Amino acid sequence: MTETLDIKITKTPHSRLAETDFSNLPFGKTFSDHMFVADYADGEWKNFQIVPYGDVSLSPAISSLHYGQSFFEGIKAYKHADGTVSIFRPDKNAQRFNKSAERLCMPTLPEDIFLQSLAAVVDIDRDWIPTQPDHALYIRPFMFATDPFLGVAPSTTYKYMVLLCPVGPYFSKTLRVKIENHYTRSAEGGMGYAKSSGNYGGSMLPAKKATEEGFDQLIWTDAKNHEFVEEMGAANVVFVLDGKVVTPSTRDTILDGVTRDTVLTLAREWGYPVEERRVSVTEIIEAAKNGKLDDAFGAGTAATIAPVGSISLNGEEYFLSDPKTREFSQRVLKEMNAIKYGTTADSHGWNFIV
Ligand code: PLP
Ligand code: COI
Repeated sequence: MTETLDIKITKTPHSRLAETDFSNLPFGKTFSDHMFVADYADGEWKNFQIVPYGDVSLSPAISSLHYGQSFFEGIKAYKHADGTVSIFRPDKNAQRFNKSAERLCMPTLPEDIFLQSLAAVVDIDRDWIPTQPDHALYIRPFMFATDPFLGVAPSTTYKYMVLLCPVGPYFSKTLRVKIENHYTRSAEGGMGYAKSSGNYGGSMLPAKKATEEGFDQLIWTDAKNHEFVEEMGAANVVFVLDGKVVTPSTRDTILDGVTRDTVLTLAREWGYPVEERRVSVTEIIEAAKNGKLDDAFGAGTAATIAPVGSISLNGEEYFLSDPKTREFSQRVLKEMNAIKYGTTADSHGWNFIV
């Protein structure tokens, strides 16, 4: 850490905490009392502030609205039984934040400022961290261009903000997923590895169509031939194939997930063979047919470990075993939760204590 960030704090005179129903927290709908804001202008980050959560006044000509110079991160903070508050692996998100910034021709944010901004706003709103099982405070850092200019060129001014949402699990059921072989999320040379807002805008139509067909999620495949599996919705995808933990290797079309890395690190430590490589659709379907697809799940901050119940390809549906009986995903979910909620030792130094 360098020096402490000089943050101007304006607290809300009217906390909404007492009137918030913590027994009903659909993802991303409830916001905490405060948010972090900073501005980039004249080549530097400035005006670090924590202010009451609320609307922001902006020019309708900002290029983030017109050309998508905008990206985000997703992280979670947890409250342990003794009241300790920790954020899970935010250093990884700080690094990815800057990869996204570079891809979109936007300014990077020093890792130190990123970490201090999260810690400061989470600290102020620590009473907003839900304590029920599988609940957390979702942290949404994001950056967007603010020049009021309609030319297609990088903005010279930007805003960086952090919002907080108390959340429960993103998915409440075992997922029925479809292998998408028409639409694509990202292509080689594109922005798939960045958390750029446009990637998510483009995913909505295929996701909506899949929902209309009765599916919960899509498995994205490569843009060239739809031959290889890439990701699942807004999560990475991990399979256990005949005892081996197998996941698509990261590349410029795939987001390098923090949860993915956590799962693979634990798997290696537990002695599972781990393969990060190209995974073909045919291989997954053949394994499902032959009873060799032991496990399949989405891995992400919002999704946590989201078990797949069935995989469909071209109208044919292949069913997997009951998720409760699956050795690997059950173990990995239990261990990740134990680390995050502080009920086991954090031997990897993954918890950033606030
Ligand atoms: N892939 C995509 C497209 C995502 O949006 C996410 C969610 O952040 C992930 C993968 C999982 O990444 P992480 O585990 O870092 O949340
Ligand atoms: C996350 O897991 O943090 C994500 O970004 C998913 C989100 C788009 C809901």
